[in-house]
Amino acid sequence: MSSLFWLENRIALVSGASRGLGFAMAEALAAHGAHVILNGRNAATLEKAAGRLKDMGYGAEALAFDVTDAAAAVDAVERIREVHGRLDILINNAGVQHRVPLTEWQDGDFERLLASHLTSSFRLSREAAKLMIAQKRGRIINTGSVAAILARPTIHGYIAAKTGLHGLTRSMAAELGPQGITVNAIVPGYFATEMNEALLADKDFTGWVEKRTPLGRWAQPHELGGAAVFLASDAGSYVNGHLLVVDGGMSITL
Ligand SMILES: NC(=O)c1ccc[n+]([C@@H]2O[C@H](COP(=O)([O-])OP(=O)(O)OC[C@H]3O[C@@H](n4cnc5c(N)ncnc54)[C@H](OP(=O)(O)O)[C@@H]3O)[C@@H](O)[C@H]2O)c1
Repeated sequence: MSSLFWLENRIALVSGASRGLGFAMAEALAAHGAHVILNGRNAATLEKAAGRLKDMGYGAEALAFDVTDAAAAVDAVERIREVHGRLDILINNAGVQHRVPLTEWQDGDFERLLASHLTSSFRLSREAAKLMIAQKRGRIINTGSVAAILARPTIHGYIAAKTGLHGLTRSMAAELGPQGITVNAIVPGYFATEMNEALLADKDFTGWVEKRTPLGRWAQPHELGGAAVFLASDAGSYVNGHLLVVDGGMSITL
């Protein structure tokens, strides 16, 4: 395997990694030699996910906490410092969805969406940056969304949060670059995960995605792994503040 993509001796924290895109990105990092720390709220599911990676011979462990719990997030990064002495890669990926017409959106739901996607990414990045600045190297990767480039009805809190996350990616990249830290976002299109269960069950919507996407299909979670490895590895050493769109071409077509 090319050393350009090799992640041996790198410690990576991936939030929202018990399933879906987070698990797929963690698996790809681990397959390239990284030791991955999987995060999610449900400890039992998370242990199973880490077990699956360990069974494949990869370095993996579970670290359950709610990314919206400020104290728990700060403690988690401190624990990683105590146990591993470093943190090389942070992927801010945890998040939830909420779909209702604008007039039915409650303040609490809007704030919950901002907290799970945006505030949590800001906080975990700040804590990770303290370690990465001391190391003079690090990689922060945020999971954005094509929905922050092309809007849709009903997902107001989600789009607001992801648009903020794209902006936060750039402001952190501008500030942390001189410290040897890159900050980028991966911007997925439509992937077949639990978050999209309702959309996948809707034949009309599924057909629309297939027609709207030049590749003519939904993506599978493993198809995000390569982008994560690229941005986390030496192959992406001069890529900073970039939004890497992985959407089968959806956002470049009308
Ligand atoms: N699927 C797509 O098409 C798509 C497209 C664009 C962007 N994205 C983004 O990609 C990311 C992953 O989405 P996905 O489709 O893989 O979703 P998913 O299958 O629902 O997985 C979400 C993950 O996040 C965890 N999680 C949720 N809230 C959390 C919290 N407060 N603290 C810690 N962990 C939390 C979940 O575990 P627990 O429930 O156990 O906490 C789970 O591991 C999200 O940020 C999503 O917005 C997805």
